[in-house]
Amino acid sequence: MALFVPIIDFGPYLDPAADEAQRRAVIDALDSACRNVGFFFLANHGIPQALFDQIRAIGHRFFDKPAEEKLKYTTDSGFRGYKRFSATTTNGQGLHEVIAFYASANSYTNGRAPAAAKDTSVPISPDAPDVFGEQNMWPDGEFRAVAEEYLGCVQRLSQRVLSALATALGVGDSFHDWMDDPFWGMRVTGYPGIAETGGKVGDGVNFKEHTDFGCITLINQDDGPDSLQVCDKQGQWHSVTPVPNALVVNIGDLFSIWTCGRYPAPLHRVVHRAAHRRVSVPIFIDPRFDAVTGPLPELQSADDAAPKYEARPYGDYLWDRISEFYPQQSEGMQRHHA
Ligand SMILES: [Fe+2]
Repeated sequence: MALFVPIIDFGPYLDPAADEAQRRAVIDALDSACRNVGFFFLANHGIPQALFDQIRAIGHRFFDKPAEEKLKYTTDSGFRGYKRFSATTTNGQGLHEVIAFYASANSYTNGRAPAAAKDTSVPISPDAPDVFGEQNMWPDGEFRAVAEEYLGCVQRLSQRVLSALATALGVGDSFHDWMDDPFWGMRVTGYPGIAETGGKVGDGVNFKEHTDFGCITLINQDDGPDSLQVCDKQGQWHSVTPVPNALVVNIGDLFSIWTCGRYPAPLHRVVHRAAHRRVSVPIFIDPRFDAVTGPLPELQSADDAAPKYEARPYGDYLWDRISEFYPQQSEGMQRHHA
C-alpha cells in the first residue's frame, strides 16, 4: 500500500491575483498534509525550471570528478565541505557522498545577543569561531553562482510556505521573529548507483533513518526510481515516488515541538537500488539560534497529558542533535575548541 504524499499546487498562494478562497484552500491543504503525513510535494513553487535542474546537474558534475579531486574540498572538522560515507566504515550513516554548506554559525550572527545566555556552551561574541569550523568550500565559481541563486529562491519560497503554515496554525510574533532570517543548511548529496558500488550497500540503507532537526526541509531530487522512504504512524515504510519538477517538503523536530506535536516530524531514510547515481539537494530551514525550543505560546496546552519539552535555545538544541548524529565531527570540534 503506497502512502499518499499529497501534491500541493502552491501557485494560487503565490499569485497576487488569486482570491482569498483560493489562498485559503492552499493553506488548508498544507495544514492537512503537515498534520497527517509530515511530507508533501510542492508543485508550482515558482523556482525557474532551468535553475531547478541546474543545481542537481552541478551536483552530478562534481560527483563525477575523481575521488582525489573531491577530497580537496574536505574540512578538518567535517561539517562543511565534502564527505564520503562508505559501505565499509562503521559510522552508520549509510552509503552516500555529500558536499555540505551552512550559513555562518557563531551564534552571534544567528541571533543571540552577546549578553544573553552566558551559561551556554555555544560561543556568543562576534569574533567567536564558527561552531561548525571551516567555512563553505565552493568547488568553483559556477557551482557557487548556481548554488547561491538556487538557495536564494528556496529561502524566499520557504518564507511563503512558513507564512501559510503560520496562518493555518494561528501563530504570530515569536514565530515570525525567529524565522525572519533563518539559519540554513544545503547538502548536495550523491547516492551511488549499483554499477558504481558493485552492489554493496553497507548496512542496507544509503542514508540511515532519522527525523530532521529543524523547522522545514525542502528537497530537490532527481526524477527516477524511488529512493526516499517515509515511515507512517504504524511503523510501515513507504516510497516517496518523485514527482517531476516538484519539491518534496518535510517537517522537522523543532516544528513538531513548536506545535506540541500537531505537525509530527516523520522518520525517513534513503534506500537507493538503481543502476545510476541519484542526486538530491535538501535545504534545511531553521530558526535563529536564540529561538526557544518549546511550544509556541499560542499552541501551549494546559492539558497535563500534552508532551513536555525543556525550553532551551535552538542553537544548543541543534548542537546536541548534531553531536548525536555525527559523533566524530562534534568530538573533533570539541577538541578543536578545548
Ligand atoms: Fe532528512
